[in-house]
Parts: sequence; C-alpha cells; structure tokens
Amino acid sequence: MKLADDEKAMRDGAEGDAVAAAMDLLIRYGEGLGAERLCDTRNVAGTMAQPSPAKEILVRQGGWNKSYAVINLDCDDDITIPKMRVPTCQLQMGFGQADAEAVKPYSPHLVELQEDGEAFYAEHGVTILATCTPYQVGNLPLRGEHCAWMESSAVVYCNSVLGARTNCEGAASTGAASLTGKIPYWGNHVPENRYGTHLVDATIPVKGFQDWGMFGYFVGGAVQEARPVIRGDWQQPDLADIKHFGAAAATSGGIELFHIPGITPEAPTIEAAFGGKPIGEPIFFGERERRAVYEELNGIGSSTDVDFILLGCPHASLDQIARLARAIEGRSLNAGTELWIMTPRALRSVADRNGYTEIIQRAGGKVLTDSCPAMSKAVPDGTRVFATDSAKQAHYLAAIMNIEAWFGTLEECVDAAVTGKWNGHLA
Ligand code: F3S
Repeated sequence: MKLADDEKAMRDGAEGDAVAAAMDLLIRYGEGLGAERLCDTRNVAGTMAQPSPAKEILVRQGGWNKSYAVINLDCDDDITIPKMRVPTCQLQMGFGQADAEAVKPYSPHLVELQEDGEAFYAEHGVTILATCTPYQVGNLPLRGEHCAWMESSAVVYCNSVLGARTNCEGAASTGAASLTGKIPYWGNHVPENRYGTHLVDATIPVKGFQDWGMFGYFVGGAVQEARPVIRGDWQQPDLADIKHFGAAAATSGGIELFHIPGITPEAPTIEAAFGGKPIGEPIFFGERERRAVYEELNGIGSSTDVDFILLGCPHASLDQIARLARAIEGRSLNAGTELWIMTPRALRSVADRNGYTEIIQRAGGKVLTDSCPAMSKAVPDGTRVFATDSAKQAHYLAAIMNIEAWFGTLEECVDAAVTGKWNGHLA
C-alpha cells in the first residue's frame, strides 16, 4: 500500500504506540482488501463503549486501555489510548441506568460496566450519541465525505441518502480510524464503485412506512450485496420511510448503497445512477412480491396472543414518536402486554418536552433509548410473541430470542398493544 508521509510517520511511532498500532492495523486491513491507499476521514461511528463479556475480561486485566487495544486495535501490547484524533461517535450500546429498571431482566452489572466505559470514551473525545441513527441527532456528513461507520442501517443511510461514503466497518477499523483519521480507500469510497448494478421496478404504488419496509426487504433479497437503482410510483417518502427501506434492504441482503432517482443525491436520473453503463433487465416488485414479503415476515407467528410490541427499529424519529402518541392517546395497554419504542436519548428529551413521552407512558408504554432488544438481547419477562412495524426486527429478534413475530403497521401494533391480540392483515 502506498502511504503518505503523515501515514508513514504515524506507522513509525511519531504519535505514540497506540496511533502506530492503529496505523499498522489499517495497513494490514487495507492490504487484505486490495486497497492501494488510505483516505482521510473526519467522521467515525463505532461501538467502543458497548459492554460485552469479552470486554469485561479485558477491562479487569488492564482497564479500558486494554479493551481498546485488543478489540479496537487488534494489539496485545500495554498501550495508553490518546484522545480521538477525529470526530468519533458512539453508536447503539446497552440500555443505560435510566432504562435498566424498565427492561428487566437486565444485568445491573453490565449497566455499571457500560457507565464506566462511557466515561472513559467521553473523556477520550467520543461523542456518546448512543444510537444506530447518528444522522437523526446531529451527525450528518456532507455529500462525498469519507466516513468510517459501523451498523448496516446507518451505513446504507450514509451512502444512499446523504451521499457520503463509507463501507460497513467493524470495531477494529473504526477504532483505528478514530485515532488516525484514515481508512482504506476501497469499496464505497471509490466513485466508480458507487454506480448502480440492478434496476428494480416497482409496478405497484409504494405508499407509507410499511410498504417501504417490505419493498426494502424485497430489494435486499433480490440483489443481495449489489447496488440497486429503484424506479417506481410513490408518494414522496419521508426520513422514516427511507430509513426503514434501507434497514430492511441491509437485513435481507447486504445492501450498503441504493439509488432512487430524484430522491437520493447521486442519482438525478436512472442513467446517471448507472454511470452511463448499459442497464440490464429490471427486477419487478408487484403485488405478488409484496404479498410474498408480508407472508415471509409473518411466517413465524402462530399465536395471536401478543405479549410485547416493539417500535423504533432503526431508532424512531421524533415524528414516529409523535405518531405513536397520537395513536395511543387516551387508551391503555392490555394487562400483560408491553410496548416499547426505541429512540436516541437526544430525541427522547424533545419527546419529553413535547409531552409525547407522558402520553405514551400514561397508556402504559415505554420510550427507551441507547439500545434495542436485539442488541441487548432483552425483552420483557415471559415474552413468547411480539409484534413490530419494523421488517428488520421481525427478521432478527424472533431468531435471536426464539420468539414468534408479527409484522404490521403502527396502527395494528397499537391495536395489539391495547387488546393483547394480533389482528393484522395486508391492505
Ligand atoms: Fe437499531 Fe437495534 Fe434496529 S440497533 S437498527 S434498533 S436492531
């Protein structure tokens, strides 16, 4: 790999052992990928402070310096971690103290470990956004900006909606990027690698949040890790629709970048999205495909007695919280059914201020932050059947927690929360 002078100096220890270890890791990683060089980044999103049993062992051995060295830099030496060199934010983590009570069964021990890690990383310059949607709470890279982000739903949003550039990074590469301001220049960083590969034609109107999730789930399954260009007839989607579309596409496939001409920044037209290259036969999304996705996402539900409703995957926007508050105002949850909505902590404080949290809590629901059931492997005690409006959670949580899943609209989820019965159907 060809290194610039500042990169050679970092590799050779001019900025200390930890930065040298970070540069060593990036060189090994980049060479493994076939990258010819590194590029500068000033936007890193990783999961340093997320607690885990492996981190706990390392923290006992040598504190958070040791944990960062081993997990984030692949280095066994005793090194001291300096402040982050470039803006770095913490993505989703475990539930915090404020919510620990609400998500029982939950380990107070892990909460303490997390608080300890959070303090360490905050001191080292990591912004504790604690969300899978950093773009909803102030981390909005500009078009063309090179980033180093983890979390598949955030990566696809970063590339496709913001037009910034990131691969789907891991704990080690983000750990190294934050100390060096560098990341291998390959994959989605390279303009030629960002053109569309497959045309997907929606032959039916795509209307609203549920449809965008099902459409995304279909597209991911159809093109896997390629770069779809989407054509169709829809009402203008909003942030929540597009967030749901991308998260679902990154769940059923490995999509990191899609183009919707007229909506996403790099695709003013279909032709531009393909970079002038020949466009192959389209893949069609019609009523049959829509129904097949719906049936797949509802394929594991058998009991209509619902114990748990989960909303806010990816973490809910303020508008989604407001919609829930409107739908549930004046109603009460069924005894024995829980409702959680996940959101970034910064948005919950606005929801508190606007009275949405109080409305949801008065009905018996909970507005939780920092984490989610899939990340924390935490659902209400005794949950056997859950319902969600998120294609991603319907896909993952059922498998992770070995529970049954129903997928439907917000209104159907609220109805199930109030009655304890699932009564969803595809409109
Ligand atoms: Fe976020 Fe958890 Fe969904 S991290 S994208 S709410 S699985």
